[in-house]
Amino acid sequence: MSAQPPQPLKRQRQLDLYRRARMTMPGGTNSNFRAWGDDTIYVDRGQGGRVWDIDGNEYIDLRMGYGPVILGHGDARVDDYVNERMRRGVSFSLTSEDEVEAMELLKQLTGWVGKARMTVSGTEATMHAMRVARAYTGRNKIVKFEGQYHGVHDYALVSVTPNDMADLGDEDNPVGLAWGRGIPEAVTRTIIPARYNEMAVLRRIFERDGADIAAIIVEPVLGNAQGIMPRAGFHEEMRALTREFGALLIFDEVKTGFRFARGGAAEYFGVTPDLATFAKAMGNGYPAAAFGGTDEVMSVLPDKVSHGGTYAGNRVAAAASVATLRILRDTDALASIHQVGRAVQAGLAEVINERGLPFVFTGHPVMFGIMFTDKMPTEYRDWANSDHDLYDAVAVGMHARGAMPEPDSREPWFLCEAHAREDIVDRVVTIFADSLDAALEQRTAAGVPVPTKHLGLGKEIG
Ligand SMILES: Cc1ncc(COP(=O)(O)O)c(C=O)c1O
Repeated sequence: MSAQPPQPLKRQRQLDLYRRARMTMPGGTNSNFRAWGDDTIYVDRGQGGRVWDIDGNEYIDLRMGYGPVILGHGDARVDDYVNERMRRGVSFSLTSEDEVEAMELLKQLTGWVGKARMTVSGTEATMHAMRVARAYTGRNKIVKFEGQYHGVHDYALVSVTPNDMADLGDEDNPVGLAWGRGIPEAVTRTIIPARYNEMAVLRRIFERDGADIAAIIVEPVLGNAQGIMPRAGFHEEMRALTREFGALLIFDEVKTGFRFARGGAAEYFGVTPDLATFAKAMGNGYPAAAFGGTDEVMSVLPDKVSHGGTYAGNRVAAAASVATLRILRDTDALASIHQVGRAVQAGLAEVINERGLPFVFTGHPVMFGIMFTDKMPTEYRDWANSDHDLYDAVAVGMHARGAMPEPDSREPWFLCEAHAREDIVDRVVTIFADSLDAALEQRTAAGVPVPTKHLGLGKEIG
């Protein structure tokens, strides 16, 4: 099982562009999450489930832009529709029929949303959902779970992604940790951090602060920690607890919406929130997003709550949403993605089992993580106990061999419909196996012990 060394990637044009970009953009990119130093990737194009950087290296894309590209890059069904609409003009700050149809499709697919409004990003969607919850209840505080990511507005950047779990405070009494400077303490104080899957902590929080709590906002799975799943009954218990204390339940479906099921995680888990946010898969990568809720809760709009935006419901996003949501409604795209995800997982499981390593799959086959651990993870703090250094080494090795999962072990792999057509399974599994062997050899050479306890395939999902 000696690992095949990969051909070195061509990097010169990217290194040159990185040096140039750093002169004008912090870190050489438009997002902290893409700034990977000398390894920063500058993309040329994507097609289907593949992506090419500007040096011409080709990768099977397992990031899919952090999830939005549900059908595949350059999907002609969506792009042709968007192009046709775009040529009629893109910015009017008036409302188009596509916007109406996009929100009708959202209502139809979720089955529970009564009213919805479009935004441009998931960040804006969660910000408005929190505001609506505060307006509707007349309360200020929002409960949010450690390790969950709801975008980059001030209210979302609390207890998101520290490497050192000690920063999150006592397990029974988590503390709110602002991510980076510039977030007013007064804002942080309105966010109460809780631990995913820990009902006892949640109940204590409500018993202490329930009269001030407007809502719980929750990614139905811990998308920022490889998609850790809820314990059986967790969502139902949250639903009951929020009702008991007169608070709202907000599902942040930015990652799970139109991906876990047509009706997102709410359909998949069978629990209906009061409000939800959508983005990513809604527009196959175009910047489309929305927040929506029951008629009753959304009735605070338009008179009592501010929401607007020059680009809210913009032509491109609305057209992309119409085309994408129609496809997700009318075809078996999600079932195909599910199937290819399961096939990839089965191949990976065989590889890892052959090497006797402890691991679990987190998440759902359409969006899953691989944790090298012998404990079933239930919350963000468990990520720290997994062998994420091994995962990181494997991810780096996969890049070098032509497949691109996110190099950060907290981010799940994302699959798209095009992957199902492109027969990627064997290639991904071989690349993974070679990368794992290389990472293990490096460890052995460095005298680092390799874990051997075997847990096997994680929670069998859907
Ligand atoms: C669950 C969740 N909510 C909100 C966001 C923010 O969305 P955006 O990046 O479009 O602002 C993200 C982005 O990854 C997300 O995963």
